Amino acid sequence: MDTIQETKRAAAEQAAAYIRDGMIVGLGTGSTAYWAIQKIGKQVKEGLSIQAVATSIESENLAKELGIPILSIAEVDSIDLTIDGADEVDNSWNLIKGGGGALLREKIIASASKELIIIVDESKQVSQLGKFPLPVEVVQFGYELSQRRLGKLGCVPQLRMSKDKPFITDNGNYIVDCHFETIVHPGELHTAINMIPGVVDNGLFIKLATKVIVGYNDGSVNELG
Ligand code: 5RP
Repeated sequence: MDTIQETKRAAAEQAAAYIRDGMIVGLGTGSTAYWAIQKIGKQVKEGLSIQAVATSIESENLAKELGIPILSIAEVDSIDLTIDGADEVDNSWNLIKGGGGALLREKIIASASKELIIIVDESKQVSQLGKFPLPVEVVQFGYELSQRRLGKLGCVPQLRMSKDKPFITDNGNYIVDCHFETIVHPGELHTAINMIPGVVDNGLFIKLATKVIVGYNDGSVNELG
C-alpha cells in the first residue's frame, strides 16, 4: 500500500476506535472513509453491535458487503457518531466536501450527528479554504442559469462531467465545481450560494466537525479537538 493510503488508513482506524456498542454510526464517502468502513466491518465481525446509515450508495454497498447492518435514513432521527473524509479542512475546522459528489447526503447525515469525526491526510489541512473547487449540487432544470449565478459570486463555475456526460449525484442532480481559489468568509458564502434557486446545497461544512484526525506521511496521527 502506498504512503497516502497508509496515512488515510491510520486516521480512519483511530476514528473507528470511538465507536461503541449500541451506536448508530454515519458512514462517510471517499477513499479515506473507505478505510473507516473496512475497520468497522472488522469490528462488527468481532462482535461490535451497531447500526449504520450511509452517505452514498457506494458506501452503503461496501458496508453491506462487509456485514454492517444498515438503516435507511427514514428510520433515524439522530446519529451518534459519523466518520467522514474532507477535501479541505481549515484552522476553524470548516470544511470543503463533495469531491466524491456525495455532499448532500453527507451534510444531511453530518447535521443529524451528535459527533462528526473528520479523517484526513495532512495534504487536506489548509489555512484558508478555496484552492479545492467548491462542489455545489444543483437541480438539472435551469442548471445553466444556476451556474452563471454561481459565477457572479466570484468563482469560475464548471459543470462536473463523467466521461462525456454530466456527472449525476445519488440524488439525480448535477454538480457545479466552483473555482474560488480563496474563500475569505465561508459562512457568508455558504448562505449566498444556498440562496440561489436551483441550488440544493454546497460543499461548505461550517462548524459541523467535532473532531479532526490527521494522518501524516511519517506514519503519525494527530487528533485535533
Ligand atoms: C465525498 C467527500 C469526501 O469525503 C472527500 O471528497 C474526501 O475524499 P477522499 O477521502 O477520497 O480524499 O466529500 O463527497
